[in-house]
Amino acid sequence: MSSHLLVLSLLLALLAVVHCGPGADHGWGYDEDNGPDTWQGKCQNHLKQSPIDIRAPDVDYALLHRMHFLNYDMDGKIELSNTGRTLFAGGFESWQQKQPMIQGGGLKHRYKLVQFHLHWGQNDAVGSEHALGSLHYPAELHLVHVREGLTLKEALTRPDGLAVVGVFLAKTNDPVANNFSPISERLHDVRHSGNKTEIKNFRTKYVLPFDTEAFYRYEGSLTTPDCSEAVVWTVLAEPVAISSHQLHLLRQLHNKELVKSDKNYRPLQPLNGRRIQYRPSKLDRAMICSSAATTLTIFSTVFAFFMTMIY
Ligand SMILES: *[C@@H]1O[C@H](CO)[C@@H](O)[C@H](O)[C@H]1NC(C)=O
Ligand SMILES: [Zn+2]
Repeated sequence: MSSHLLVLSLLLALLAVVHCGPGADHGWGYDEDNGPDTWQGKCQNHLKQSPIDIRAPDVDYALLHRMHFLNYDMDGKIELSNTGRTLFAGGFESWQQKQPMIQGGGLKHRYKLVQFHLHWGQNDAVGSEHALGSLHYPAELHLVHVREGLTLKEALTRPDGLAVVGVFLAKTNDPVANNFSPISERLHDVRHSGNKTEIKNFRTKYVLPFDTEAFYRYEGSLTTPDCSEAVVWTVLAEPVAISSHQLHLLRQLHNKELVKSDKNYRPLQPLNGRRIQYRPSKLDRAMICSSAATTLTIFSTVFAFFMTMIY
């Protein structure tokens, strides 16, 4: 073997070691041997991690502007894939001027949708990553948006590089087709890890609830390695319906180990002093106004009563 070849093969071997060595993206999952307890780095030692439990004592009422979902009613082609860890929908960058985006809702920038994916659990009492007062929905969908003007890599290094919208999926016993059908109808095509399929004429608003007015907001992280703290979280208060059959289909998807991936959620992380903002719906605002009016009425009645006592 010539010395050139020897150097080349040594370099290749080194490359392989570096690429597959510890710290690489390989190997993490949701099983006992590779699950969240074993995730390293930021996942273990950082303080603004996600998901969190949204508990009333940690929530502040915030009069934020409503969130705008731009181009969410446009249709386009997406690629649905089974990554072995989640059900993943991508391809939005190629929609160009039709690419869905979000702005408003207290966000300081505009963010472009790059993918959405799902988290679920082995039974209906678990599955969503976020919880409301310790209660979980059976699944949660994450719409991942990158700050306009940044690459994904750049976005991961900024505290507000990504804006992820979390949508809870609530079980319905109504077997008729719902908005989740365009995806669930294709699940048999992506049963195995690595399988991909295309969905044409997909509208992103299919996976949003009808009412997007009310939401929770906090600063957190990716819920998968490397757990970068680069996410402005928006968790919508209103869930989207998913049937028990559709949930069953999700739990049948196979993971990298060629077995059913019946769970892919990260457990709740400590809040560590962070506050959660709650942006109410219009209805809530009407209630504030009417309760203020009631208070005023009671006050003036009492005042009038005292005046009659005095005179
Ligand atoms: C899905 O993946 C399996 C295992 O790799 C493969 O045998 C099968 O042909 C794939 N199916 C499709 C529709 O791509
Ligand atoms: Zn996620």
